[in-house]
Amino acid sequence: MSDFPIEQKTLVVLILAAGLGTRMRSDLAKVLHRLDGRPLINHVCRTATALAPQKIYVVIGQQGEDVKAAVLNELDDQQVVFVTQEKQLGTGDAVNSAREYLQDQDSTLVVLSGDVPMIRPETLAALVQQHHGHRGKGAACTILTVKLKNPTGYGRIVRDDGGRFERIVEQKEASEEIRQISEVNSGIYCFDTQKLFAALNGVRNHNSQGEYYLTDVPSLLRDADEDVAILAQSDSHEIEGVNNRAQLADLERILNRRTISKLMLDYGVTFIDPKSAHISAQAAIGRDTVIHPNVTIEGESVIGDGSSIRSGTRITNSRVGHGVEILDSCVIANSNIGNNCTVGPFAHLRGNSKMEEKSKVGNFVELKKTKLGRGSKASHLTYLGDATIGENTNIGAGTVTCNYDGKNKHETHIGDHVKIGSDTMLVAPINVGDGAVTGAGSVVTKDVEPDTLVAGVPARIKKNLKDNTPGSAT
Ligand code: UD1
Ligand code: CA
Repeated sequence: MSDFPIEQKTLVVLILAAGLGTRMRSDLAKVLHRLDGRPLINHVCRTATALAPQKIYVVIGQQGEDVKAAVLNELDDQQVVFVTQEKQLGTGDAVNSAREYLQDQDSTLVVLSGDVPMIRPETLAALVQQHHGHRGKGAACTILTVKLKNPTGYGRIVRDDGGRFERIVEQKEASEEIRQISEVNSGIYCFDTQKLFAALNGVRNHNSQGEYYLTDVPSLLRDADEDVAILAQSDSHEIEGVNNRAQLADLERILNRRTISKLMLDYGVTFIDPKSAHISAQAAIGRDTVIHPNVTIEGESVIGDGSSIRSGTRITNSRVGHGVEILDSCVIANSNIGNNCTVGPFAHLRGNSKMEEKSKVGNFVELKKTKLGRGSKASHLTYLGDATIGENTNIGAGTVTCNYDGKNKHETHIGDHVKIGSDTMLVAPINVGDGAVTGAGSVVTKDVEPDTLVAGVPARIKKNLKDNTPGSAT
C-alpha cells in the first residue's frame, strides 16, 4: 500500500549507484557511506518504496556485491532488479545498462541518484503528478530543480526567453556566464520510459569527461518536439548530493538538527544542548525526557517518558523505559532497560542484556547477555556475562561471572534475594539458589543450594540460613 497512490501509469524507479565516487577519496563506494548510520543507498531505496512502484531497478558497478547486500537490507528481493554497469561511462550509460528491461515498457520511470539521500517521498509524488498532468497529456520528461546559493558542481538549468526548459549544462562544460545560473539539476527526473530510451540512443560522449551524460537527454527530447517540464523545488537540502566528505557532514548535521527540533517541538523532549546531541532519525524519545550534552542515540532506539540521560552516553539499538536515570559515560548496545532503573556512571550493557524494573547497575559494571531481575543491584566494579539474576538480589562490588574457560562460554544462574559478597568469583556453569549468600572473596566453583551461606577459596558451605545449623564441608 502506498501513501501516494498514482493511478495513471505503471510507475518504475531506477536508482543510479554504480560509481565509486572519486571525490570521497575513499576505498568504500560512495553510496555505502553512512548518513544517520545507514548507507546512502538505503535512504534512497526507502524513499523509493514509499512511491509503491511496480519495480525498483538499481544500477550497480563499483563494489556491486556490497551495494547489492545493502539494498537487500532495505528491500525484499521481489521488489528489486539489479542491473550491472560494467564500466562507469557516465550517468547516461548507467541508465542505458537497464535498456533490455525497460525500453519497451509503457511506464513512467523515476530516475534517482544513489547519492541524493534526503529526497522525500512527498516531493517525488509531486514530481510524478506534475509529469502525468503536464498539459493534460503528460510530459516526456520532468526535471526536479532547485536554486542554490552555491550551485558549484551541479548541472545548470538553462531556460529559453519564455522561461521554458532549454538544456542542462554540466559544471565542467559551462561558460562563466552559465556558471552564474543558480538553478541546478537535482539528478532526479521523471521520464516516459520509451521516449527516454529512444533519446538515449542520440547521446554522445563528446564532452570534457568523455562520458555519456544523462543530462543530454532532456534537450534531445526538446529538439524532437517533446515536452520537457520542470518542477522547481524550494527545499535545497532535499536535493543536495553527496560528492565529498564535507557535503556528507553537512547533511548529517542538517538531518540531526531536524530530528532534534522535531523531538523538542512535537514530542516534548528537553535537550540541554541540542547542538552537541546526536540522535538517529530512527530513534523515538518520550515526553519530559532530558537529554544532556554530548549524548549519542543510534539506530532504532526507543527511550520512554521522563527519563534522563547524562553526558557522554551512547545508546545503540536499545530500549529504555520510563523514569530511567542513565548517568554519565555509559555505553548501552542492543539492550533493554525497564522502567525506573538506574544505570552508570561508566556502565556498559551489551549483547541483549535486560534490566527489569527498578534494578540498578552502577559504576564500572558490565552486563553482557545478562538479565538482571526486578529490584536487583550490581552497584560497583562487576562483570556479569551469560547470567540470569532473579529479583531483589544484591551483587557485591567486584563480582565476576567467570563465564569463559578459554574455549566455551558458560552460564550463571542466580536466584531471588541472594547476596553475593564483594569480590566473589562465580565459576560458570553455576547456579546459586534463592536466598543464598556468598562470603567476601569467595571463589564459588559448585552450585549453591537455596538459603545457604558459602565462603572461602574454593567456597564451602558455612551455614544453612533457614534452620541456622552449621553445614558440612562440600
Ligand atoms: C549529476 C548530474 C548533474 C546534477 C547532479 C545532481 C550528470 C551528467 N550530471 O552530476 O547535472 O546536477 O548529478 O546531484 O548526470 N553513476 C553511475 N554510473 C556512472 C556514473 C554515475 O551509476 O557511470 C551514478 C553515481 O553512482 C551517482 C549518480 O550516478 O549515484 C550521479 O553520479 P555523479 O558522478 O555523482 O554525478 P554528478 O557529477 O553529481
Ligand atoms: Ca553526485
